[in-house]
Amino acid sequence: ARKIIIDTDPGQDDAVAILLALASPEEIETLGIVAVAGNVGLAQNAKNALKVVELSGRRDVPVYAGCARPLMRELVTAEHVHGQTGLDGPDLPEPKLRLEAKHGVDFIIDTIRREPEKTVTLCALGPLTNLAMALVKAPDIAARIQEIVLMGGAYFEVGNITPAAEFNIYVDPEAAQTVLKCGAPITMMPLDVTHQMIGTPERVEAFRAISNRSGEAVAAMLGFSERFDLEKYGWPGAPLHDPCVTAYMIAPEIFKGRLCNVEIECASPLTRGMTVADYWHVTDRPRNATFIRSGDSDAFYALLTDRIARLP
Ligand code: BDR
Ligand code: CA
Repeated sequence: ARKIIIDTDPGQDDAVAILLALASPEEIETLGIVAVAGNVGLAQNAKNALKVVELSGRRDVPVYAGCARPLMRELVTAEHVHGQTGLDGPDLPEPKLRLEAKHGVDFIIDTIRREPEKTVTLCALGPLTNLAMALVKAPDIAARIQEIVLMGGAYFEVGNITPAAEFNIYVDPEAAQTVLKCGAPITMMPLDVTHQMIGTPERVEAFRAISNRSGEAVAAMLGFSERFDLEKYGWPGAPLHDPCVTAYMIAPEIFKGRLCNVEIECASPLTRGMTVADYWHVTDRPRNATFIRSGDSDAFYALLTDRIARLP
C-alpha cells in the first residue's frame, strides 16, 4: 500500500476523499490527517476531520491541527459553499476522538524524515499552507517526498472563487507557489477534471442505496453541495473535487493529463492565485507538475460506491 498523509479542510468533498482513502487499506496506508484553515477556520476543520474519522470506524488514524491562517494573507473562507460548520448536510455526532498534541506541520516533517526515502505521498485537499510551512521549515524533506497529489487550480476551466482562481490556490497563493517549486513530483487535480465528476441524482441514490451510515452521510453531503451548484452553475449535482486526489492513489488510469510548467500568480490583485499552466509547452520553463485535464466519471463513481460500501 502507498503511504499517504492527507492535508485537508473538511469540507463535504474532503470528507468523501478521506472516506475513500480509509476504505481502501489495501492500496492506501493513511499515516495521519492534518487539518488546515480553508473552507472554515482551523478549529472547525480539525473537528470535522475527527468526525469523518469516527464515521469511517478507523479510529486508529491520528488527526493533527496545522496552520490557522495563510502564510501572508488574511484567511478567506467558503461558508457560502460548505455551510456554517464547513460540513453541513449529514448529521454527524460530536467527536469523542481527540486531536494529537503535535503540530500538524511537525507531524509532516517528522513522518517524511522517519519513513524510507520516497515512500510517503502528500495528498493535499485544501490551501497549501501546511505543506509550504513544512518545506520552509525543513527543506531536506523535498527530496524525500514520493509525490504531492493536490486538488487545486484551473486553467481551461478558469476560476470558482474569482474569475481567474480556484479556491485552494486563491486562499494561499504564496504557499502554492512554494509547493510547486519544491522539486518533488506533483500531480494536480484542477477544476478542469473535478468539474467532470458531477454527483447526479442517480449517483447520489447509489450511495444512499448502500444503506450503511457512511453511504447515507455521503448522500447527504452531496445533497447539501448540490443546492449551491444547481443555483450557481445549473448543474444536475455537485462536483466531487477532492476525491479525485485519493481516487488517483487507487486507480490512476481514471485520469489523463500532461506534465508541464505550472506557476502561480501572486502579485496581481485581479488574477491572484491563478494557475498559469503551460499546457502547450510554449515556454521552456521547467515541467514541474502533471496537470490532469480529464477523467472517466463513471469509473470514478463506481470506485467510490464500491469503497464506501466497505465502511460501517
Ligand atoms: C476546493 O475548494 C474547497 O472548497 C473544496 O473542498 C475543494 O478542495 C474546490 O475549489
Ligand atoms: Ca477541500
